[in-house]
Amino acid sequence: MEKLILGFLGSHSGSNMQAIVDKCKSGEVNAIPAVVISNNSEAYILHRGELAGLKTYHISSKQFPSQDELDEAIIKAFEQSSINLVILAGYMRKIGKLLLKHYKNRILNIHPALLPKFGGEGMYGMNVHKAVIESKEKESGATIHLVDEVYDTGKILLQGKVIVLDTDTPETLQLKVLEIEHKIYAEAINKIALGEIVL
Ligand code: GRF
Repeated sequence: MEKLILGFLGSHSGSNMQAIVDKCKSGEVNAIPAVVISNNSEAYILHRGELAGLKTYHISSKQFPSQDELDEAIIKAFEQSSINLVILAGYMRKIGKLLLKHYKNRILNIHPALLPKFGGEGMYGMNVHKAVIESKEKESGATIHLVDEVYDTGKILLQGKVIVLDTDTPETLQLKVLEIEHKIYAEAINKIALGEIVL
């Protein structure tokens, strides 16, 4: 397996990217974080990227109204840094056909629940945690999966679980799940680097 060179796509805070970058820098994860792209010029993930010395890009559908052109712009930015693994870290847009084809089986996402439960369109952010609490689940967690044409249905690579207490609210559950997200995303990438997870 060639050395993994990571390209991130994110729309908001980027705490998952930060956890991965920190572990790459400490040597815990055998990969090179190189690029971050956001569709939101104000996103904190771009600021984190600058501080960490990554190449940062703002690429949005306002600049590229056609999905193919948007995909091409993203591919071009990633190609310039020889990205070979794409990491979705809170990216609030659907991935286009060209990008999916170019990085077939090389795009990872993290979902804040135990897929296949609580996935699909509209299931993001607090909506997920509310649904888990309303269904009186005893456990929840996070899922790392490959991205395909349909939301949240790609091959599951790794999951981490948390216990849901009767006293949990969507907000407390979100914090617990985020903590496990920060562990397993980096762990999954390192397992790919070691050949323990084969894409
Ligand atoms: C996480 O909860 C992740 O599961 C979801 O988007 C959120 C991103 O958070 N896909 P952050 O930007 O990494 O802090």
